[in-house]
Amino acid sequence: MTARTCLTIVLAAGEGTRMRTSRPKVLHAIGGETLIARVLAAAAAANGAGGGSVAVVVGPGQDAVVAAAIAVMPGAEFYVQHERRGTAHAVLAARPALSRGADDVLVAFADTPLITPQTLRRLRGALAAGAGVAVLGFRPANPAGYGRLIADADGRLVAIREEKDACPAERAITLCNAGLMALSGNAALAILERIGDDNAKREFYLTDAVAIARAIGLETVALETDEDEVRGVNNQAQLAEAEAVLQRRLRAAAQEAGVTMVAPDTVYLCADTRLGRDVTVEPYVVFGPGVTVEAGAVIRSFSHLEGAHVGPGARVGPYARLRPGARLDADVHVGNFVEIKEARLEAGAKANHLAYIGDARVGEGANIGAGTITCNYDGVTKHLTEIGKGAFIGSNSALVAPLKIGEGAYVASGSVITRDVPADSLAFGRARQANKEGFATRLRALLRAGKKAP
Ligand code: UD1
Ligand code: MG
Repeated sequence: MTARTCLTIVLAAGEGTRMRTSRPKVLHAIGGETLIARVLAAAAAANGAGGGSVAVVVGPGQDAVVAAAIAVMPGAEFYVQHERRGTAHAVLAARPALSRGADDVLVAFADTPLITPQTLRRLRGALAAGAGVAVLGFRPANPAGYGRLIADADGRLVAIREEKDACPAERAITLCNAGLMALSGNAALAILERIGDDNAKREFYLTDAVAIARAIGLETVALETDEDEVRGVNNQAQLAEAEAVLQRRLRAAAQEAGVTMVAPDTVYLCADTRLGRDVTVEPYVVFGPGVTVEAGAVIRSFSHLEGAHVGPGARVGPYARLRPGARLDADVHVGNFVEIKEARLEAGAKANHLAYIGDARVGEGANIGAGTITCNYDGVTKHLTEIGKGAFIGSNSALVAPLKIGEGAYVASGSVITRDVPADSLAFGRARQANKEGFATRLRALLRAGKKAP
């Protein structure tokens, strides 16, 4: 048996006016990924290695949405819905893709970002089992605004009624339409073309596909899922709710993988955060995109990590900031108010307090004193600082890059180092101290007598 082919049509042509932002709705992010990227990723995962094609329907001038979609799915095709005349009208904007034919046609909304690949596969499974149309139902705490799934006396799905067109009895139905739909590829175009706009909003409703499918003798079924998976994002509050659901999922997955979090509700994760076994994350830690933490590392409170790799057994924070390109090898310590950017700290290196390490390599076991700054930027170009294995950088040193500090070298506290330091040598880059005995006593006497200091 050959695998069934699938065309997924992702609708993203909505204006998202209720977000009240200049950014298009589907480019808002949860867990560090845009809404559209998440839906495309779910579609790709549901399609699996077998491929399957994906068409995205955008509104006029939504180039940023197209760019974001291409970034995560270079093979996607795009169609513009020039007038916003309803969900069925939007699906038909992808007519060339529909005309090519596929066994299964899946319609997903780009503003429903928590949908899982498993549910997309379940919908397709219903087609494989003989249904002409399969829809996804759920029982929201507050059904206001959703379409209702209408069943006959035998409990079979016969129609979907949009709330604005529903009678009071229909409005009392608690099983609502999540918006996702699977249509048999053979019948999809014929069904879509029969959908009219004779309804309260004078829109072409995709939901009418159910009644039409039944009228032409096809079986229609409703699957059910829980509300969290199909939460739509139409405004800022719903965006934050979707984020909360995702965070709960991500934290649960991290705990399942052996991560200890004392106060998980205060830890913010990204969908791509990778935390190893025996990792401890203290309260109030933010993981931005692109972070991996290996086994046994401890991330202490109030740390912010982004695009960073933390090696096994490393200790980060409290109050540490790891920016993109930070790479800590095994057992590295990065303490409070230390910022690391585009820099590798090799095994056992330590920067325990108040430092900025940017564009650098810090050798094994090297010690970076409090207040050390790599002066990596001259206003035009970034330059590299290389610190050798076992080197010791005294507190409050400015390391002016490009610079090489040899293995085992010492840099005296308070130095401004502008030239390379050979291995095992001591570099002073500061004014020498002079003590003038008794001077303070004489100075005070002069000042009290209203005279000028010498
Ligand atoms: C839709 C469903 C409703 C369901 C609800 C679930 C229809 C007619 N109604 O209503 O039964 O309960 O979702 O959230 O399908 N879009 C376009 N072009 C258009 C219109 C919409 O691309 O002309 C896109 C939107 O960007 C969005 C999606 O389709 O991604 C859904 O549109 P929306 O207006 O939010 O539909 P609802 O009224 O929420
Ligand atoms: Mg909606």
